[in-house]
Order: sequence, then C-alpha cells, then structure tokens
Amino acid sequence: VIEVVRELADLRRAVGEARSAGRRIGFVPTMGALHEGHLSLMRLARQRSDFTVVSIFVNPLQFGPSEDLDRYPRDEERDLHLCEETGVDLAFLPRRAAMYPEGAVTTVDVGPIGDVLEGAERPGHFAGVATVVAKLFNLVEPHLAVFGRKDAQQVAVIRQLVRDLSFDIEIIVGDIVREADDLALSSRNVYLRGEERAQATALHRALRAGGEAWRRSGEVEETEQVMKDFLEGSPGVELGYARAVDPISFLHPAGEAALLLVAARVGATRLIDNLTVTR
Ligand code: PAF
Repeated sequence: VIEVVRELADLRRAVGEARSAGRRIGFVPTMGALHEGHLSLMRLARQRSDFTVVSIFVNPLQFGPSEDLDRYPRDEERDLHLCEETGVDLAFLPRRAAMYPEGAVTTVDVGPIGDVLEGAERPGHFAGVATVVAKLFNLVEPHLAVFGRKDAQQVAVIRQLVRDLSFDIEIIVGDIVREADDLALSSRNVYLRGEERAQATALHRALRAGGEAWRRSGEVEETEQVMKDFLEGSPGVELGYARAVDPISFLHPAGEAALLLVAARVGATRLIDNLTVTR
C-alpha cells in the first residue's frame, strides 16, 4: 500500500530507508488534479526505478497574481487513490508553510529562457517552477525524475537546472497523452465549459497545420504565420503565441527539427500544446 507523508522529515526518513535498502528512487513531481498524462509519467517512473515517489503540491511561487492559484482543481482523496492504483510507493503532500517557511526568500533564476514564450506571458513562472523543483530534488534525492512533454519549456528549464546546479538526477520525459480528438490532457481542461471543449481542439489542429508548413517550407515565419492564422480564425479562441523554435535551445531552429508551440485562451482557460516536427 501507498505511504502518505506530509512532513519534510517523514519524507526524508521514508526515502532514506528505501535508498539504504538499495532501491532506485524514481520521482514524479505534480500539482495534483491527476489525469492519465500524470499516470503515464508514474508508470514510466515505475518501469525505470523500484521505489516511486509522487509529490502533490500546488506551488504558489509559480502562479502570477492574476492566475488560477485559488481555483486550481484540488482533490486529494481521488489523487491518492489514483497513485495507489498506479503502484506509487510514497506520496508527499507538504503543507505550504513546510515548503515555504516564513522568511524564505531564496529563488532560482533560470536566465533568458525564463523570459520567453510561457515566461513572457507568465513573469516569474519558471523561477517558481525551478525553485520548487530544486527543493523537491533536495528533499527526495531521486535517481531519476519524470516530466511531461506537454510543458516543453518546463522540460528545457529543468534540464538546464540539473546541469547548472549539478543535480545527479536522470531526467526522463514522457509523451503527451491526448483525448480521442487529440486535445492534450491538462488539469485545466476541467475548466472548459460547453462548446469550449470542442473549440480547444484548435490548438492541436493549428500545430498540425504548422507541421505541414514546416515540412513544406522549412521557414520559421511561414510556419508561425500558418499557426497564428489558424488560431485567430478559430471561434472562441484567443491567440497567446504560436512559435517554431529549436527543440533544445528554444532559439531559431538550426536543423531539420522544429518544436512548434502554441498558447491560447479558450473562454477563460489558458491552454498550451506543442509538437516536434522534422523536415
Ligand atoms: O508540471 C507541474 O505540475 C509543475 O510545474 C511542477 C513540475 C510539479 C512544479 O510545481
């Protein structure tokens, strides 16, 4: 059965025991509201390790002042049930005051990648992500950690964090899980009301149209324009950004491969999606 801990000391003790017993520690950090995408990351962790730790913590540091921190979906009982069903060994659900005691001021500056795309629309977001992930890495000290490809820029930030701060942790990236109509799974999909659910498929359709443009032309501007036009012509959808970047550096694509990234608001809900395409 799954062990549930809320105190930092209890987490360290439980993981320490597993490590001393020679078990390989796999870690999946989450903010709860678990869906099939998260479960696929947990299964990946299980395949590659023999003690799986999941954290569930809605990290206030990565939300902007006008974002959805207070209404972010939370269902602890359901999340723990799903973790248990998926074979997770240990769930860590820290209180906010345990993660950020009064007077905590140190944060991780992620440099230029934190200021583009998601970072440009959500100032401070990636510093908040990097800070909590660094703390979680220090607490869990896993051998490997699994992240989802839907947050492609987050993956790039985490790889940079691991390299720059010398974490000895293997980063594994799990593929995007999609609904039957290709909408990428997201905890925020529960916000979609009525016709918004169908309108949200515009993100993935824009990426597919962008992929065709990239294969045809290899031109960044044309590819981005196709995706922008697609989203701007989609009812109920408000374009955030539509970009084609190098999959590793997030700069201008240098080779055959491009990472296409879109963000858009559907009703009040902000969604992101991405697709890697090769010429
Ligand atoms: O991807 C998420 O759910 C969050 O950004 C993470 C990695 C758990 C950090 O809070």
